[in-house]
Amino acid sequence: MIKQHFPAASELVYGCMGLGGSWDNNPITDADRRTAQEAVETALASGINMFDHADIYTLGKAEAIFGEILAAQPGLREKMILQSKCAIRFADDSGPKRYDFSAQWINRRVDESLKRLNIEQLDILMLHRPDPLIELDEVAETIGALIAHGKIKHIGVSNMNGFQMQYLQSALNSPIVVNQLELSLAARHFVEDGITFNTSENTQSGFASGTLEYCLSNQVQLQAWGALAQGRYTGGPTQGPFDAATAAMVSDLAQQYEVAAETIILAWLRRHPARIQPIIGTTNPQRIKACADASACTLSREDWYALFETARGNEVP
Ligand SMILES: NC(=O)c1ccc[n+]([C@@H]2O[C@H](COP(=O)([O-])OP(=O)(O)OC[C@H]3O[C@@H](n4cnc5c(N)ncnc54)[C@H](OP(=O)(O)O)[C@@H]3O)[C@@H](O)[C@H]2O)c1
Repeated sequence: MIKQHFPAASELVYGCMGLGGSWDNNPITDADRRTAQEAVETALASGINMFDHADIYTLGKAEAIFGEILAAQPGLREKMILQSKCAIRFADDSGPKRYDFSAQWINRRVDESLKRLNIEQLDILMLHRPDPLIELDEVAETIGALIAHGKIKHIGVSNMNGFQMQYLQSALNSPIVVNQLELSLAARHFVEDGITFNTSENTQSGFASGTLEYCLSNQVQLQAWGALAQGRYTGGPTQGPFDAATAAMVSDLAQQYEVAAETIILAWLRRHPARIQPIIGTTNPQRIKACADASACTLSREDWYALFETARGNEVP
């Protein structure tokens, strides 16, 4: 679906949250620069041309370090599709952590992101998390003006359910092109919600029914954050009672399909008909390369269900 708007878009997105060093105001170090340079180069060499940012990642340093790379190699910009987000505000002298869809905040943060990234236009601006204090007309006017002035090409959202999207879309003149949600073999509530409907198991799914269907019916690209499940099935620390068994199955399947373990994790997401676009957040070049085979691996129905049931620790109802 993203290809409707960006025909050359890669199947994977590189997530830049890990670039820029620490989440504080310490300056960017040369080591941070080397890490970022290597990650971006490895992503591009692996065929990944979409990059995901947010104004808050490492407090602006992720965008700034990326902007340094673009300044040093201006030819890279046209090979990339760049998206960023705004609307999360951390606690500061004016108040607690909060979300802010006001015109003043959105406009300010877009200008700051463009400046840090050293670019004229964001390909996609996403509203990072739904603001309960949303003033619909104000947001619509702000987004319309940002598009009209060429500061953003498209609008997207993140962590929104289908009803919130429908409400926002009702006031916008441009289509919402992306919704970014946590979706993975670990964050599998988007599947649980559908299959446990009408059973007592459904109470803990935490996923708003109809969100997948809204996105699919309205050509909204679903992007998965946390797509690698932070490595919990691919050699990273386990976090739940069924993780060890799932990691063992992932390892067996990797041998069987002759791909890396990370590829199996991404293939599980990509086997879903929603054609989810995984965002990979690893800064490790070996792991970035290991993800790049994802499109070469299609899991069988049986293996997809076997992974799902092992990860949830129980067969489907
Ligand atoms: N919209 C939102 O609200 C939202 C929220 C969170 C993230 N995001 C976006 O989604 C992207 C991906 O999210 P994410 O970083 O949470 O998810 P991820 O890709 O599932 O996980 C990446 C993290 O897990 C670690 N990791 C991965 N595989 C590992 C392994 N085998 N062993 C040890 N550690 C491993 C990585 O460390 P190494 O770097 O050392 O490999 C990195 O810290 C972010 O970069 C950001 O762009 C969006």
